[in-house]
Amino acid sequence: MSNNNIFLPHERVIFPLDVSSIDEAKRYIHLLKNNIGVFKVGLELFVREGPKILKLIADETHAKIFLDLKFHDIPETVRRAQRAANAHGIDFITVHCNEETKLLKAAADSTKKNTMVLGITVLTSLSKKDIINSGIKKELQNPLNLALHRAETANKSGCDGVVCSGKEVKPIKEIFGNDFIVVVPGVRPSWSKISNDDQSRIATPHEAIANGADYIVVGRPIRDAGNPADAAKKIADEIAKALNNSS
Ligand code: C5P
Repeated sequence: MSNNNIFLPHERVIFPLDVSSIDEAKRYIHLLKNNIGVFKVGLELFVREGPKILKLIADETHAKIFLDLKFHDIPETVRRAQRAANAHGIDFITVHCNEETKLLKAAADSTKKNTMVLGITVLTSLSKKDIINSGIKKELQNPLNLALHRAETANKSGCDGVVCSGKEVKPIKEIFGNDFIVVVPGVRPSWSKISNDDQSRIATPHEAIANGADYIVVGRPIRDAGNPADAAKKIADEIAKALNNSS
């Protein structure tokens, strides 16, 4: 799959099912299944409910499925986890790319052809200060340099794309080409108000898409809106405008 397979603006919206039960997840799946393109299942829901949540999405929607467990372990363990994930018919899976290429190659090589392996570059919750404090060498302490370095590791290991902030997507697309998928989390529409937000390197939907993002992850601005379906529609409209402006 390349980003040519994306057709409509709302299909670029990834909604993370960051909820604590299958009943809550069902509520959002039914509310949003026609207004977003991808449901993302992360650590909380998968640890609580297991693979049945993936089956539920597949049975009840036409949305793509993103299993976001951000694998990070020795290559053999990642390879085996990846093979186990293949049984669930998922479209996207994530692996950290802050180590060496062996772990990423293990994930890329053991994944079914139609599952996209995405490397996590630099979490959008991290600021430059956090990066410095984590002991990263000086020339990579700028989030952009670090994201580019990790995107290169992902690219040369055979990953299909990366996850990075809306500020880093443009140079990543320029260097690695349009078919290298870029997913941007840390997206905050100008109208959203998130209390105690942990995201640091944020962008609006318009900025992220205008910079070249294939997909954006939008969680709390949709989940916590008075009307989540309307919030998702507003975001799709903003994506459509950004695409029209850039075409
Ligand atoms: O929009 P919001 O901040 O609520 O989105 C949170 C979601 O984005 C979580 O599911 C988190 O795992 C995901 N995320 C990500 N990569 C990042 C930052 C957040 O996938 N760098």
